[in-house]
Amino acid sequence: MADATAAGLPEPNAMVLATVSTDSADAAPSTRTVLCKGIDERGLVFYTNYTSAKSRDLRSNRRASVTFPWYGLQRQVHLRGSVEQVSREETAAYWATRPRGSQLGAWASPQSVVLSTRRVLEDALQAITNRFADAEEVPVPPHWGGWLLRPERVEFWQGRGDRLHDRLAYDHTQDRRWVIRRLAP
Ligand SMILES: Cc1cc2nc3c(=O)[nH]c(=O)nc-3n(C[C@H](O)[C@H](O)[C@H](O)COP(=O)(O)O)c2cc1C
Repeated sequence: MADATAAGLPEPNAMVLATVSTDSADAAPSTRTVLCKGIDERGLVFYTNYTSAKSRDLRSNRRASVTFPWYGLQRQVHLRGSVEQVSREETAAYWATRPRGSQLGAWASPQSVVLSTRRVLEDALQAITNRFADAEEVPVPPHWGGWLLRPERVEFWQGRGDRLHDRLAYDHTQDRRWVIRRLAP
C-alpha cells in the first residue's frame, strides 16, 4: 500500500471486493470496488451501507475476497478470509473524519435499492440536510458501518520478465503462523 501510494497510483486503497450470497439458489458471485480504510494486525476494514447488496451477501456468507489491482506497479494482492462487523466505536471514529457532505449522502442513499429517478435521491439529500441543519455533528446512520476482513490467505503477485512472474501465497495456520509458498505464474 505504501508503494502504491508513493508511486502516485490513482485510488491506491481501492480494492475489488467479491462476495457470494448463499441466499441465491445459484450462489452467484458479485464484485464491486470499495476503499480500504484501515489495515492492522486484525486485517482490512472498509465502510459501507449495512443494507446494501454486499452487506446482505456478507451476512448470509461471511467468506469474502478482495483484490488490490495495482497495474501501474505490475502488482496485485489478493486476500481471502471471513468478515465481521467492526464495533460501533470504530465506525464512529472513522465517520468523524468524513466530510459533512459524505455523511449526509450516506444518510440519504438506500444503497443498492432501485430508484425511479435521480430526483428521488436529490430530494432525500435535501430532506436529510434540512433534518440535520442545526446539528453541529451528523450522527452515524444505524445502517452504516465497517466490515473487517480477517485474511486467511494473502497472495502477492509481481509481474516480471518473460511471464515468469512472482507469486507468493501466505496461508494462516491454526497456530497463527503464516506458511509461505511460491506458486507458478
Ligand atoms: C473507486 C471506488 C471506491 C468506492 N468505495 C466504496 C466504499 O468504500 N464503500 C462503498 O459502500 N461503496 C464504494 N464504492 C461503490 C461500490 O463499488 C458499489 O457501487 C456500492 O458499494 C454498491 O455495491 P453493492 O450494491 O454490491 O452493495 C466505490 C466505487 C468506486 C469506483
